[in-house]
Formats: sequence, structure tokens, C-alpha cells
Amino acid sequence: VTFEGIDRSGKTTQARMLVSALGSDALGVREPGGTPAAERIRSLLKDAAVPLGPEAEALLFAAARAEIVEQVIRPALSSGRVVVSDRFLDSSLAYQGGARGLGVEEVERINRFATGGLVPDLTFLLDLPPSAAAARAGESDRFEDEGSALQEAVLDTYSRLMSDDPGRWRRIDATRSPEEIHAEVLAEVEAVRSGARA
Ligand code: TYD
Repeated sequence: VTFEGIDRSGKTTQARMLVSALGSDALGVREPGGTPAAERIRSLLKDAAVPLGPEAEALLFAAARAEIVEQVIRPALSSGRVVVSDRFLDSSLAYQGGARGLGVEEVERINRFATGGLVPDLTFLLDLPPSAAAARAGESDRFEDEGSALQEAVLDTYSRLMSDDPGRWRRIDATRSPEEIHAEVLAEVEAVRSGARA
């Protein structure tokens, strides 16, 4: 299960609430990060003082993803756990493919190489207008420093990805309270799990 959305859309809160609701059945991860190498790559990617071209940026996200998929996500899935990820490959498609202009297909190709083709069963888009997200508190990073045009482009790309694969995606109104959003998320997860067991 993955959570996607623009910066400050509330993904991290929702991913945590879902993991605690699912208990020991679930493993929570966040991207980029989750292994020693991926955490090092994360700090490089988040540091706005380090200049990075779009291609290098996309490859670094994919490298971090390769590590966490191989070392953490696949082993957990094999042992029957539900993996809940705060961002996954759709973030690269939206930020690097769409907003940075590298092209969704091109970024999908390097990610297929990185992950061996692993795709989420269920993806939530926490849908929040960029103006509302910008008004929320938080530390800014490389992406948020670039302002609302980037966030708009990210959201547009998510919408495009969603219409290409409607079965996997759920659009969630993220303007509501965390508890209301969580209730809807949990109901969707339970519905998909009971469908998978049937
Ligand atoms: P995130 O960890 O969600 O930020 P924070 O912890 O500050 O909420 O993600 C860091 C930034 O990296 C965020 O602006 C989105 C961006 N990002 C990409 O551009 N591509 C990717 O593949 C991923 C995973 C994140």
C-alpha cells in the first residue's frame, strides 16, 4: 500500500496511522530511505545546497528504491506482511517524470530496472490544493523551495497516472481531519484485503 501526494499533503501521518491500525501484520517504510545506503542517498537528495541535475536526481531516487525493495520490502511481502510505504515509484513518475520534465515513460523504465517491476496493489493520492499545503507548517527542502508551480505539476501528473490505472488508485480528499481520512483509508485497505482473500 503506498501513499502519494504533494509535499505537506499528510501522507506521513496517514501512513503511520495505517501501520498502527494494522498492527504486526504491517511494516511501515518511507522513501527515500530505509537502508544504510538509502538513508545516505536521502540526505543528499534533501540538501538544497547540493546542486543536482534532473537525471542524477532520478537515478539517485531509483538507487535508493532498489536498496529498500531488495533488502526490506520483498522480504516482508514474502513473509506475508502488508508493506505500507510513505511514497514509492509514483513519486518519481510525478516529480522527476512530470514536474522535472524527464518524461513519465523514461523514469518508469529506470524504475522497472531498480525494482524488478514491483508495483503497489493499492495507492492513495492525498489530494490537497498546493495553496492549502503551503499554508501547513513544516521544514522545506529541495522541492518545496521551488514553489507552487512544481507542486501543481506534480499533482497534474498524479492525476494522469491515476486515470491510466484507475483500479490501483484511490483519490482521498486530504482537506479533512486526519481521523476522517484514516477511516476512509482503513475501509479501502480492508476491502482490498478481503477481496484478495476471497
Ligand atoms: P518526503 O520524504 O516525503 O519529504 P518529507 O519527509 O519532508 O515530508 O520526500 C522528500 C522529497 O522528495 C519530496 O519533496 C518529494 C521528493 N521525491 C521525489 O522527487 N521523487 C521520489 O521518487 C521520492 C520518493 C520523493
